[in-house]
Amino acid sequence: MQPLIDFAGKRIVITGAYSGIGAALVDLLRQSGADQIVVLDINEPEASVEEFIETDMGHPVSIDEAIAKIKADGAPPVDLLINNAGVAATLPADTVMRVNALGLKRLTEALLPEMNAGGAIVNTASVAGNGWPGHLEQINAFLDIDSWDEGVSWVADHADVVADGYSFSKECLQVYTMRMAKTATEHGLRINSVCPSPVDTPLLPAFRETMTDQLIDWAIEAGAGRVATAEDQARALLFLGSDLASYINGVNLIADGGFGAALQMGQVELPT
Ligand SMILES: NC(=O)c1ccc[n+]([C@@H]2O[C@H](COP(=O)([O-])OP(=O)(O)OC[C@H]3O[C@@H](n4cnc5c(N)ncnc54)[C@H](O)[C@@H]3O)[C@@H](O)[C@H]2O)c1
Repeated sequence: MQPLIDFAGKRIVITGAYSGIGAALVDLLRQSGADQIVVLDINEPEASVEEFIETDMGHPVSIDEAIAKIKADGAPPVDLLINNAGVAATLPADTVMRVNALGLKRLTEALLPEMNAGGAIVNTASVAGNGWPGHLEQINAFLDIDSWDEGVSWVADHADVVADGYSFSKECLQVYTMRMAKTATEHGLRINSVCPSPVDTPLLPAFRETMTDQLIDWAIEAGAGRVATAEDQARALLFLGSDLASYINGVNLIADGGFGAALQMGQVELPT
């Protein structure tokens, strides 16, 4: 009998797989038969992968070099793209927007048209991006920009809405996921996001620093009552990237242990 999830023979590109959610995903993919994993990261993953391309997702030249290697003559097309690399607002807003939004968009748009039909793109967004309806006009204006330099300038010119960059970058990613669903369909692909609440990864202390312990602990306690593990989130990414999610497209899957549901149902007290 065929396993329900089988990545054997699929070419998989993952950004940000040195640590945290991305590293957990590499483990799960291996358990699911994956044998062609390409990692783009500033740090070389400890797990063995078929190809590591040192890439700074915040710099267009570095991203373009990675794209050229991925698409080198004779290389098979990509089946699955996981846009997972991300940084917190302990870094400047400009850097956060480059890595979390501009770089992700550049890589996606270069790979998508040549991906194998039947494949998928999955983004790691965040519940921090749930406020997108309040900025939709600005987000669409930013996402409409094709040039890297103009995107960087837009970020500099809109410091009021971009703020520290993190929430806005994830708002952009949630909207981008929905905007690209139709394009994905036209290529026989799907694009979705996973939106985690706090996850126990090397990035969590940075969120504690920028968002306060009080807010992070509140989201954890009012949700599942335990912090998510990297594997919890990697499972959601794996699902959306697999054929089990064959009719799911343009969805921002909230993976927050029930926090948002409880909040919307008025079952959670706001922190004092
Ligand atoms: N940890 C959380 O609480 C949380 C919550 C919601 C969303 N997220 C998102 O999950 C994703 C993964 O983060 P994580 O929590 O596993 O943290 P992490 O720091 O363990 O993983 C981030 C990965 O991105 C790589 N990376 C960092 N800067 C890069 C750059 N410029 N170019 C290429 N790669 C780069 C890192 O080397 C690492 O492999 C991020 O997009 C993050 O925003 C995390």
